[in-house]
Order: sequence, then C-alpha cells, then structure tokens
Amino acid sequence: MSILTVKTTPFADQRPGTSGLRKKTTVFMQPNYLENFVQSVFDAIGGLSAKTIVLGGDGRYFNREAAQKILKMAAANGAAKVIVGQGGLLSTPAASCVIRKYRTDGGIVMSASHNPGGPKEDFGVKYNIANGGPAPEAVTEAIFECTRAISEYRLLDAPDIDLDALGETRLGDMSVVVIDPVADYEELMHGLFDFDAIRALFASGFTMRFDAMHAITGPYAQSILTGTLGAPEGTVVNAVPLPDFGGGHPDPNPVWARELMDLMFSDAAPDFGAASDGDGDRNMVLGRHVYVTPSDSLAVLAANAHLAPGYEDGLAGIARSMPTSAAADRVADKLGIGCYETPTGWKFFGNLLDAGKATLCGEESAGTGSNHIREKDGLWAVLLWLNILAVRREPVADILKSHWAEYGRNYYSRHDYEGIDAAAAATLMDDLRARLGSLPGTVSHGLTVVSADDFAYTDPVDGSRSEKQGIRIGFEGGARAVMRLSGTGTEGATLRVYLERFEPDPAKHDLDPQEALAAIAAAADEIAGITARTGRSEPDLMT
Ligand code: G1P
Ligand code: ZN
Repeated sequence: MSILTVKTTPFADQRPGTSGLRKKTTVFMQPNYLENFVQSVFDAIGGLSAKTIVLGGDGRYFNREAAQKILKMAAANGAAKVIVGQGGLLSTPAASCVIRKYRTDGGIVMSASHNPGGPKEDFGVKYNIANGGPAPEAVTEAIFECTRAISEYRLLDAPDIDLDALGETRLGDMSVVVIDPVADYEELMHGLFDFDAIRALFASGFTMRFDAMHAITGPYAQSILTGTLGAPEGTVVNAVPLPDFGGGHPDPNPVWARELMDLMFSDAAPDFGAASDGDGDRNMVLGRHVYVTPSDSLAVLAANAHLAPGYEDGLAGIARSMPTSAAADRVADKLGIGCYETPTGWKFFGNLLDAGKATLCGEESAGTGSNHIREKDGLWAVLLWLNILAVRREPVADILKSHWAEYGRNYYSRHDYEGIDAAAAATLMDDLRARLGSLPGTVSHGLTVVSADDFAYTDPVDGSRSEKQGIRIGFEGGARAVMRLSGTGTEGATLRVYLERFEPDPAKHDLDPQEALAAIAAAADEIAGITARTGRSEPDLMT
C-alpha cells in the first residue's frame, strides 16, 4: 500500500459556517472537493501524525464513500488510530461522547444536520476538537485559510475496509477500530438518569411516540427506549436511518414533523411525544395537546434538572444563544446561578462548559444539552424530560402551565424567510445596521423602539471576540425582535426574525403565540423593510 500525493487546486467556497461545511452533495462529490477540505482540516490542526480521531456520520447519501476516503486520508497523514462507528455511523452527540471517553485528539462528523439528504440535497463535514465540541472560530478560520492555499493532499492507495464488522483492523500503519455506535452513548445516559424510575413510568402505562424521522437517532432510541427502558414496541417510529431520510426534511419542528404534531393534538395522543433531527443533536418535545417551544423546554429542564441523578447537586449556570428567549434567565435568576448569552451556534458553549461556568445550554433552534458532552443532544433532552415526568407524574401541559405561573411566560416565535436573494438579504442587514443609532424613539405599530444594536460577544473564558452576531431591536415594555442571516443554508440566504414578549400575568398565558407577537412582527417588518426588500409578505416557516 503506497501513499499517494495528489495535486489539487483550491475551491473558493470552503469556509465553514455555523456548523461545519455544508454544500450540495454533488458539490462534495466532485473530484478533490471533500479531499481538499479534509486535508485542510488535518493541516490546520498541525497534522495527524500519531493522533487518534473519531469518525462517523448521520448515514445520509455519500456517508459510506466519504468515510472510506477520510480513513485512507487519515492513514496517509500518519494517524495512529481512527475510531469509527459501525457502518460509518455516529450521531453528533455520540461522536462527542466517544471523542471524550477515549480521550482522542478530535473527530470528524459527516452530516448536514437537519438539512435534507440525497443526491440532490445536502452533505456536510465538521471537525470537533478534543473536548468533543465543534471547532471554535479560530480553528474554523485556520481550516478556511488552508483551503485557500492547498496544493496537494495525501491518500493511501488501499482497498476499502469493512465498516460493518466490529473490531480492529489495519489500514497501512494505522489502526481502525469499528465500534458499536450506540453502546458508549447509552452507558453515558445510564449514568445521568434514573433508568429504573423511567422503566417504572413506562410499566405504569405511560405512552410515548418518538419520531426518529428516518435519521440517525432511530437505533439509539430503539436501543434505549424500547430495549432498556421497556417502552412498548412501536414507540419509536421511522426508526430506520435512510440515505435520503425517506425524502423528508429531518428537522424536528412543528412543520417538518407534522405527523407527530397531528398525532399529539388528536384524541389518540400519547402522554409524550418527541422527535430528533438528521444527526441526532436536535429535539422537539410535546405533551398531549401541547407543544413545548425549545426556549421553554430549556427553562423547564433547568428548573427541574435536580430531579435527575446526574444533576442532583444543582447547576453551575445556564447558557443560551442570544436569539433564544429569556425564559431560562428567569430560572437562573431564581436559582441564583450564572446566566450566559452567546452567539448562535453550539461552538460558543464549549468554553463555558469546559470552565465549569455552565451546566445546561440551549438554543431556540431545538438544541438542548449539558456538560455531559460538548454538543447539543436530542435524545438526552428527551431522557431528561422522561426522568422529570417519572418523578413528577404530571402531564406535560400541567408542568408547563405551572412553570409559567411561577416564572411568567416568554411568548416566542421565529419567522424564517428562506431562499431569498443573497444580495438583497445582505443589503437589508447592512442598511439596518447603518440605521441602528437613529432607531431609538421610532414608533411602529404602537411599539416604541428603546434600543437597537448588533450583538457582539466577548468570550468570558478566552477573551475572543465575535462581532455582527445579530441585530437586536428592543421595544418599550421589554419586547424584542432579533434579525440575523442563517449560516447553515446552501441556497440563497435565509433571514431569521426572532420575536419575543414577556407576559407575567397567568390570566394571559393562553394566547396563540402568533397573535401575542403580531405587533412585534409587524414592527420588525416595517423597521427592516422585509416585505419591501424581499418581496415576501409572509415567512416560509414559523416555529
Ligand atoms: C442554525 C440554528 C442554530 C444552530 C445551527 C446548527 O444555524 O439557528 O441555532 O446552532 O443551525 O444546528 P443558522 O442557520 O441560524 O446559522
Ligand atoms: Zn443537527
């Protein structure tokens, strides 16, 4: 087996976004595209010589081929060992767990998360560092610099290895260890939650539906919920991961997980419903006839985490991304613990978790997690909910209502304008940014602007600074609108508008969120000129 050094030229579009590099699958499949990016990752981290890394993906189209290629490149770059999930599979949280458990130097996750998969859809590659978390900006920028200068990559000239057989094999001088993708993760969950209490809950007749959306969480949910915890057969649906996720959009929100939504609002609704995304790091949670927003879920989990053994000593602090609602802040306040507001993307939580400043983290985009790993974790959130339900034995709707009665309700919604013209989107943001100083005092739809800024963040641990992380418009009375452009899309631009309003009065906690937020949405539209500039009178998606 010989090491090939292959000449190549840079691709201009390999800057990692909010979560790794995501492109159309056909872009990734063109000659040298994947190879350039992977070699750049290796170069940016100082080479792979004698290192051990983890490799796995969400099973989408091109996963296996990419895994074989990355293994041969790792071998040619001098890696000592690659730990790879059987079949080339690992959920994002499981990859983070394995990186940490075996104290490896990092890992590569092949995923475009909740983006659809298939030959005409999306593929992605992200690099995680030794703490198990997404590479911070300094690393992703270094990777990008390498992609701009790359002239060759290294590849072992060898046959494909058998990714389905568990155990150790060799690829040139490198060891390849194929592991069960579920076992280490399940062991970690077992240590955090009271599995006996959850088993007793199911034994008492508690019913649940978990929609794996034909994505990676299927095998994890089957093994843990149906296998270990004794949930009835049929609890986990769409459990077999498919390369195109069954043609669906593996994003657990009320629109893309419509089937689950419909069930949970029907007479046949089980007690609890949940779904996860393409790579298993997102979650959606529902009770009978009630949808729990991710922002509320973070707050409820924070207020009740002590009911689970892994968190019985309390929380060090809570961190949330800036556009996420302030519901969790109220819990942190009451608990007298730290509360952190970070830019969008899980990579900003890593330092806070490593430094022991935060225990729970969350994002409005269906991401919740804790210090057990360094990624958000869909099934973990579902298990924490189950542990809380097993102790409190109350319906989800009652838990939510009493939470609001105690802390007040943060009405919240995100409006997405997808696939808009990238130049128009950039102009909209630039113009708004230029007018920030003059916005206070403006009255729109009965709301007076009291503050307007562009969110910038200084990491309290390493002092690194991130600018232009979202425009915030604050209104008199505490309502706000936030606007930012998505960093994960692969076509045109997506404008995200985040709307929020606090309501302390329990007598007013039963409004439809869209009604409760209508004036703020109209004001945001007028102030930013969304309809005028994008030609869209309605968002494509409201979550
Ligand atoms: C989106 C979400 C963000 C999340 C990211 C990766 O990023 O908004 O919270 O961390 O996906 O799952 P965006 O497309 O907004 O840049
Ligand atoms: Zn994901």
